[in-house]
Amino acid sequence: MPDDFEQMWTDLAPVGRSAATTGYFRQPFGAAERECHAWFVEQCRLRGLRVEHDGNGNTVGWWEPVGGIVPRERHHAEPEARADHVGLSGAGAVLTGSHLDSVLDGGAYDGPLGVVSALAAIDVLRDRGFLPGRPIGVAAFAEEEGSRFGLACLGSRLAVGATTPEQARALADRDGVRLEDAMAAAGLEPALGRSVWLERVGCYVELHVEQGRDLVDRGEPVGVASAIWPHGRYRFDFRGEANHAGTTRMEDRQDPMLTYAMTALAANKQARVVSAGSTTPGGSAAGRGTSPDAARATFGRLEVAPNGTNAVPSRVTAWLDARCASEEVLAELVATIEKQAQERAGRDGTSLSVVAESVSPAVHFDAELIARLGAGRPVIPTAAGHDAGILATAGIPSAMLFVRNPTGVSHSPAERAERSDCHAGVEALADALQELAS
Ligand code: GLV
Ligand code: MN
Ligand code: MN
Repeated sequence: MPDDFEQMWTDLAPVGRSAATTGYFRQPFGAAERECHAWFVEQCRLRGLRVEHDGNGNTVGWWEPVGGIVPRERHHAEPEARADHVGLSGAGAVLTGSHLDSVLDGGAYDGPLGVVSALAAIDVLRDRGFLPGRPIGVAAFAEEEGSRFGLACLGSRLAVGATTPEQARALADRDGVRLEDAMAAAGLEPALGRSVWLERVGCYVELHVEQGRDLVDRGEPVGVASAIWPHGRYRFDFRGEANHAGTTRMEDRQDPMLTYAMTALAANKQARVVSAGSTTPGGSAAGRGTSPDAARATFGRLEVAPNGTNAVPSRVTAWLDARCASEEVLAELVATIEKQAQERAGRDGTSLSVVAESVSPAVHFDAELIARLGAGRPVIPTAAGHDAGILATAGIPSAMLFVRNPTGVSHSPAERAERSDCHAGVEALADALQELAS
């Protein structure tokens, strides 16, 4: 297994890598991400897996049991009708995998580690002489990061019907390129909507690099996810009046950059206040932070118009990424940040509108799967979103394995995983797939 893993990792290493930063730029339906997908298809082919594409940009490689394939009639069944095979004891397929796209200037492991480990786990199972009693699928989901079209887990959301084709058709990237046009330009035939292959899936196990320091602090190579924090993305549009940077008196300005800057400070402060649990945003006792670290708020993306050094801007658009341990606290945190931003806009002579572009509820992974994967391993929550969360919310029993990240850094070129920990993760995933697909 180490050799197979190493070869796959070596294959992917140069794809979309910036020589300047050493980070990865694998935006959905761009050349580097599609090269990763083509590589994935080839790896499936080399292993004799049947490759299935859907019209959402997702790809699954199937290892079918001899004579034991789930009947195709189920493919267009409604979710209730899937109940007979959704679950750990039914006949449904066991799905694993992750994604191949990256954030802008991302790390090597977020996503690809889950796909490479899934393929390596199949190699391990074959070396063990295992023959699956249920189909095992390896998925490569599209646009998990939302780095191009703004909506995280777009491929899995479309697959389960959490995002409608109409909603997806309205999405455009920063250059105004619509999702379907981007897919077509990449040589795909978009057919957005619920994925046929999903109907045969009984459960999902995703392996992922850990994106914090929990496993490092515990001295453990592999952990299991208990839950995903509720989280959301909110677009703040600040509007003011463009004017000359030199001739406009300070008291005559309507500067949306100023309102934004104060809002960024307020967001940081409010998340700290919630985390400290000393007071709650909005002043009510409801939803009080129950952990010493219960909220995160980040402005990481900004657009400024006209974006000139010598002009007061007319517009600043900023995206708030907010995450909390509970939905109630998340809603209250965002409401407080917006309230403070509106008050500031009033003082600055600017205006503000806020749009929640996506809000993901809390996810609690399947208790039975956690018990099976978690024996002897730390079981930890995460504030990162994953396709596993989308599948879990859609009623598919799901769970995640985390592999220790020695830097604790993610969404950055500094993301790391030691090879021995990756191998431990592959073994843990292989054990899980073997048990589930027996
Ligand atoms: C995805 O990685 C996210 O949590 O934003
Ligand atoms: Mn990821
Ligand atoms: Mn990520």
